[in-house]
Formats: sequence, structure tokens, C-alpha cells
Amino acid sequence: MSRNNTKKPKPGSVHIDDDISNGDFDFLDQTLRPSKWDEYIGQENIKQNLKILLSAAKERNHPPEHLLFYGPPGLGKTTLAHLIAKETASQMRNTSGPAIEKVGDLASILTNLSPGDILFIDEIHRLNKTIEEVLYPAMESGSLDIILGKGPSARTIQLELPPFTLIGATTKLAMLSSPLRSRFSGGVFRLEFYNEEEIVKIIKRSAKILGVSLDDTAASSIAKRSRFTPRTANYLLKRARDYAQVQKKDIDERMASEAFELLGIDYIGLNASDIKLLQTIASKFKGGPVGLNTLAASLAEEENTIEEFHEPYLLQLGFLERTPRGRTLTERAYKHLGLDFPEDKQKKLL
Ligand code: ADE
Repeated sequence: MSRNNTKKPKPGSVHIDDDISNGDFDFLDQTLRPSKWDEYIGQENIKQNLKILLSAAKERNHPPEHLLFYGPPGLGKTTLAHLIAKETASQMRNTSGPAIEKVGDLASILTNLSPGDILFIDEIHRLNKTIEEVLYPAMESGSLDIILGKGPSARTIQLELPPFTLIGATTKLAMLSSPLRSRFSGGVFRLEFYNEEEIVKIIKRSAKILGVSLDDTAASSIAKRSRFTPRTANYLLKRARDYAQVQKKDIDERMASEAFELLGIDYIGLNASDIKLLQTIASKFKGGPVGLNTLAASLAEEENTIEEFHEPYLLQLGFLERTPRGRTLTERAYKHLGLDFPEDKQKKLL
């Protein structure tokens, strides 16, 4: 498939071993994506569990049971699915929740599967309820129930599907209905943020693939700004490479810092939008609590963008807290902004 076609999926479309999301990141991800377990750094517990699951399934001569991966974007959910497809020597069919608009779209995907295929559904929380209900019998007993006709004369016919493994990925586990969640009989795995050492390893591996030379201080400087996320680390590595290339130099700490300053990324990886979000809570909402919708309106930003792209890292840094009454800024965030922590909040802590 040509790269130009990957931007917007057609409803119900399935791509064989290709991604459905944004073109540039896909290309980046695919070049740098690990193709062997040994190359996949971190997420040790998940890897161990998957290896057992896969070898047991292989011994039984049956596709692995259905799996669900969840966690913030960029942590390697799709990469894991690719590794599983490779390990089981199966074809990966790649689609996403929003691309499956009608029951017929899903029916067509399922009936076109070959035995042993991996069906990867990204953003699976965005499947609508009616479509979800078609998935239940498909996941549980490998059958597709098709209703013919309407009213009292309606009949159901059952089609037997080839054995397959569904791998779902989501950034929002809570939005998945519990009947769907419970059908991932192989397991539900949460991907964790990476530590700095792991990110440094990922950066060094990527640098080798890209043929760029960088020293340890530069690798660590990129890692510190990576938001503990491989996708961001790889993105920053490429930006530092571009900058150093234009300056006709190798990537050292100074080159990297200059490149990131120009991009408006600070020394812990916060960008201008993150800082604006924090400053807005501090200045307009006295440090919170402020509800997500109010905050989104005030920033002229989508709630989803705040929840998916800004908050995970700010929560991880301990800059933000989610309370039942809304988002609250912590003392650490005030310190990072160079502001005094309000006295009334100090008293509350005592
Ligand atoms: N790219 C994305 N995730 C990765 C990981 N865990 N290890 C190496 N490269 C990656």
C-alpha cells in the first residue's frame, strides 16, 4: 500500500500489515519498530507473559487467545501486536474502532480472515455497541451471527469463522464495556511508561538504524525529554539529527539542547501547550480543582487531546492530580512554573 493512502481509513477497511494512523509517524515507526523480542526493550512482565502464552498456544497448535493492550499513546501497543504476528508466523490485519462504521464492515473483515490471522483493532473503545455485539460470539465461539429479515419473520444464520486472534488496543480502558473486556481471554495488559535507562537503549538502537552518531550525553538529554515514551524519543532523535545535520556536526548535548529549544520543548519534555495548560490552571482557576470541560473551553482545546496527550505525562510527573472535583495543580508544578505555591493550598496539605 502506498504511504499516501494511509492517512484516512475507508470505513471497514483492513490493511494487511500496515498502519491506519498518521503517515509520517507510521513511516518512522516502521523503520524503527523492533522486529524481534530481543529488540523490544522494557515491558518485561508483559513480554514474559506473552512468551508463555504464545509457546503454550503453539504446542496446542492453536492461535493464541484474544489479547487487549492498554495505556497511553506511543508506548508500543501496535509494536507488540506486530511481534506476536511475527512470532506466530501469521498475517496481521490492521484496522481501528472508528474505521468500522457498520455491522457489515465487521462482517466483511471477519469473513475474509484466514486461519491463524491476527486481527488488530486499534482504538477499540471507539467501536459502537451494535458492532461490539457482533464481536462477542466471534470472539467466544468463532461464529458470526447474521440476522436476515426483520420483525417476526427474522432468522439468524450462523457462519463459522476461521480460528483467529483478536488483539485490541486502547488508551481508554474505562470506555470499554465489561462484556467486551471479559472476552479477552488471553489477558488484559497495561503498558507502563519506560524508565530513562530503557529509553536511552531505545534511542541508541534507533540511532544505529538511522546511521547517526550521538554521544551518551546527547542520548540522555533526549531521553529526559521523551516523556518516558519510545515514540516521542524517536521523534526527538530525528529532530536532533536534522538540526545537527544542518550544522554539519554530530549530535552532542549542546546540539540536542539547541534543537529542542527551537522546538519549544523544555528540559523535561514539556511543550508550549503543556505549559499553557499548567499556567491556565494556576492563573485562571487558582490551581484548581477545575473540571475537564471548563479547562478545555478555556484553552480552546479538545477534551480528548487534554486527556490523551497532555495529562498522562503531567500525572506521571506528579504535576497534576485528578480529584472527583476536577484537576488540581501540585506544588511541584508551581515550582516548575517558577510560581509560589498558594498559601491556602499549603494549609490544606498540613
Ligand atoms: N519502539 C517502540 N517501542 C519500543 C520498545 N519497547 N523497544 C524498542 N523500540 C521500540
